[in-house]
Amino acid sequence: MRRTPSPNTISIYSSLAVAFFSTAIFLCISLIFRLHTPAKYYLIIVSIILIVTFFLFRFILVRFIYNKIKIIYKTIGKPLKFENEIRTGSSNLIKTVERDVAEWAINKNKRIRELQRMEQYRKEFVGNVSHELKTPIFNAQGYIESVLESDLDDPEFIKKYLEKANSNIERLETIVSDLLEISKFESGRIQLEKEAFDVVKLIKKVFFQYQHITEQQHTKLTVHGDDNTYFVFADKNRITQVLENLISNSIKYGKEYGNTNIYFHDLDEQYLIEISDDGPGISAEHLPRLFERFYRADKSRNRKINGTGLGLSIVKNIIEAHDQSINVRSELGKGTTFSFTLQKHIE
Ligand SMILES: Nc1ncnc2c1ncn2[C@@H]1O[C@H](COP(=O)(O)OP(=O)(O)OP(=O)(O)O)[C@@H](O)[C@H]1O
Ligand SMILES: [Mg+2]
Repeated sequence: MRRTPSPNTISIYSSLAVAFFSTAIFLCISLIFRLHTPAKYYLIIVSIILIVTFFLFRFILVRFIYNKIKIIYKTIGKPLKFENEIRTGSSNLIKTVERDVAEWAINKNKRIRELQRMEQYRKEFVGNVSHELKTPIFNAQGYIESVLESDLDDPEFIKKYLEKANSNIERLETIVSDLLEISKFESGRIQLEKEAFDVVKLIKKVFFQYQHITEQQHTKLTVHGDDNTYFVFADKNRITQVLENLISNSIKYGKEYGNTNIYFHDLDEQYLIEISDDGPGISAEHLPRLFERFYRADKSRNRKINGTGLGLSIVKNIIEAHDQSINVRSELGKGTTFSFTLQKHIE
């Protein structure tokens, strides 16, 4: 890369050029008018011209550059910290300015991309909320209208339709309360009530909640290392929510005669807990967005598995509220593993 000359260098070259031309002009004048000026006078005049023009050029350049740089720094909103460098005309100055402006441009670009991503996310979010709310509202409305349009003389029919309407309203309620919960987490309005408890016991209890499905689907739970006790210090109700979603996902997205495996890894101050299934897996392109609200790997709206895609978003919020982390890895055809950390309970 070509080096940017400093104001000092430019001034030296410019004053040398001026001095050279003035000497040439003096020499011409002396020759034309046959002046016999001694050489030392030429030398004195040229030196004076050299010094005066050097300082003059330097002064003009520095003032010009200083004014320009001041405007640049005002535009990029950074404090101008090197006024002395400007006054001495140092060459680092231009490099520093170039670096600061490049840094500013990179940050601005990043911010623009982030805003574009957020805008896209916001649009998708509004679309998703509308869609998820619309479906149960329309369904409930349909069932109620059918009842109203009937002769109202068949109690069996009325009961069945009102029950269907009710279950849609319950779904609506779940979505709205899930969304409220996420927004409370995101604005830091959730207070955790931490206590010590054995996480193995809790995992087995949660799996048992889904017995009706696991028996039908023949899903098997294996907790590896369950002879040990794994006491963690966390909000038990919130961790129950985490386990409910991760275990229910491993069952509902898992295969028939599938396995849900739980592994524990002892880290220094935490336990790393892995919930793993041998289901169809999730393709790599979905993994980075899996924890977003309403994100579902299986996009088809009329798929048979019910779910809003809010579960993992809540899970991530809960784990992060505990200052812990959660990750997912998956391979198509092999299965999916969610791993998260929890703080150990140390007596
Ligand atoms: N173990 C898994 N195996 C395969 N896909 C999974 C697994 N867990 C989650 N997914 C995919 O991730 C998506 C998001 O999961 P998430 O738990 O957030 O939502 P959901 O289960 O669809 O609905 P909700 O939990 O709100 O009832 C799911 O729709 C599914 O496509
Ligand atoms: Mg889920």
